[in-house]
Amino acid sequence: MCGILGYSGDRQASGILLNGLAKLEYRGYDSAGLAVLEDGEIKIVKNKGRLQALEEKIKSGYDVSGTCGIGHTRWATHGEPSEVNAHPLWSDDMSVVAVHNGIVENYREIKNKLAEHGYKFYSQTDTEAAVKLIDFFYKQEKNPLKAIIKAIKNIEGSFCFVLLFKDFPNEVWGVRKDLPLIAGQGKGESFLASDVSAILQDTRQVYYLDNMEIVQLKKGVVRFFDMEGYAKPKELSEVTWDMNAAEKGGFEHFMMKEIHEQARAVKDTFGSVYHSGKINLEEMNLSDEKIKNISQIYIIACGSAYHAGAVAQYVIEDLAKIPVRIELASEFRYRNMPLDKNALAIIISQSGETADTLAAMRRAKENGIKTLAIVNVVGSTIAREADSVFYTMAGPEIAVATTKAYSAQLIACYILAVQFAKVRGELEGSEYERLIGEIQKLPEKIDEILDEKERIEEIAYKFTNARNAFYLGRNIDYAVAMEGSLKMKEISYLHSEAIAAGEMKHGPISLIEKGMLVAGIMTQKNLYQKIASNMLEARSRGGFLFIVATRGCEALKEEADFIYNIPETDEHFAASLAVIPLQLMGYYVAVARKLDVDKPRNLAKSVTVE
Ligand code: G6P
Repeated sequence: MCGILGYSGDRQASGILLNGLAKLEYRGYDSAGLAVLEDGEIKIVKNKGRLQALEEKIKSGYDVSGTCGIGHTRWATHGEPSEVNAHPLWSDDMSVVAVHNGIVENYREIKNKLAEHGYKFYSQTDTEAAVKLIDFFYKQEKNPLKAIIKAIKNIEGSFCFVLLFKDFPNEVWGVRKDLPLIAGQGKGESFLASDVSAILQDTRQVYYLDNMEIVQLKKGVVRFFDMEGYAKPKELSEVTWDMNAAEKGGFEHFMMKEIHEQARAVKDTFGSVYHSGKINLEEMNLSDEKIKNISQIYIIACGSAYHAGAVAQYVIEDLAKIPVRIELASEFRYRNMPLDKNALAIIISQSGETADTLAAMRRAKENGIKTLAIVNVVGSTIAREADSVFYTMAGPEIAVATTKAYSAQLIACYILAVQFAKVRGELEGSEYERLIGEIQKLPEKIDEILDEKERIEEIAYKFTNARNAFYLGRNIDYAVAMEGSLKMKEISYLHSEAIAAGEMKHGPISLIEKGMLVAGIMTQKNLYQKIASNMLEARSRGGFLFIVATRGCEALKEEADFIYNIPETDEHFAASLAVIPLQLMGYYVAVARKLDVDKPRNLAKSVTVE
């Protein structure tokens, strides 16, 4: 996820771009850059690090005058954060210069094809492949619109490009697929941006681009085209939000915005390794030979990443039949357990900087164990030190309580489970295809659950003054209960515990009081009756039964105080759906208590000390 911008007008573009990028920095900040077109020449300035570094660079003498330009603030997905990988990227003769948000899934194939035509590549980005593909068609067509259309028809993935063409003064071009791009209309000037926050200081008149639509800015003129090249009429809208709401995409908090970004995070994470009908883990250095030789898996993580690992333990063991131990990094690093040399250590971390997780990973490496890191932040310490990396594609997460990064971690784990199972001969071809199909359907099911979020909002208010809660589950549902319970306690400060339902009678049941929130997760058919019995025991002691169950589960239909049904999916992947109502529950209770949802007390997004 990156922030992108375009400007065409009478004012100096660089200042406008810098101001706009500052509003988009929440979308990524590992490098920034801009390009300005003047007198048939495009000047580019870019920098590793935050926008401020770019600002200083421009002030210290770079000549970037011109009234037409594009800008970018980056969240690395392909290639580490560095100046060479920073945007804009350009074609060799600078005919085409572009900034990009999103992922070009088939960039390797594009690069290979272009290499046959003499194109060379300098960066590690997927963007460079796309820019050079547009240049390839531009050389044939001599027309930006035709070149963009031809290139886009050959690009797979979800993306947004904003472009300059050296021979077309005052023009900025843009195109989007699945990711946001808006156009702003000012007097004698026009804008493109990833979201309205970047242009609100200049105009409130915006156009929302449809998918696969192309836009051309020329000073105050904004024109739209479809993929056949025909001009399209479009209606202007007036933005009524204030600046603060705009950065959050109209949501009240980043956490809610990120909850809504989960379908996209899941889709992108899957799309990053799934090409032409196949999962490809070779970039992670996981050849079939290596996968076959894994005798044991240690999953090591903290917090929600640990909870994603707890789900993965059940899924990998059941599908790939490899023994899995899930370890808290803070415990693992100080334990003297005999370690299996043929094991694979899977390290899960959103930030890639958590001190305990890093130390635990180093310990595994010292013991000769191969490490695979599932990490969200490209170029982070864990990503750099691990033997190989599986990047989740959640994009930057601002709210301290993780949602979309957790969901993306689950997908990475499912992919490993399914692929390991296939390579080790534990899955028939058709079953493999079916499971892949089920993973692909998760994003739309996540959105379906979110469509009903008001139901959770209503019930959450009942617990504004609650003091205790239990989250119960068995098997995968227990792992989800852990995450649901953490979401509740970290942002609403309501004391909450996740309990493996079978353990209720060994102590926790004595704590149940009248009206206490007892959440039960029911996604595993063979355990419906077991968990139902535990829930009924809680109910007979006064517990309020809040159930998250797969559609079609009849158990507790009569007895539950509240049931939230989630769509059916393969049971191995049910955590991805069951967690959504639980995230919402934590969120809405915190809102009802008027707490600072995005920055809960005493907590930090990244725990870089022990
Ligand atoms: C902190 C965050 C959690 C996160 C945990 C592990 O406690 O608040 O949301 O799950 O650290 O962080 P990591 O970056 O390693 O996933």
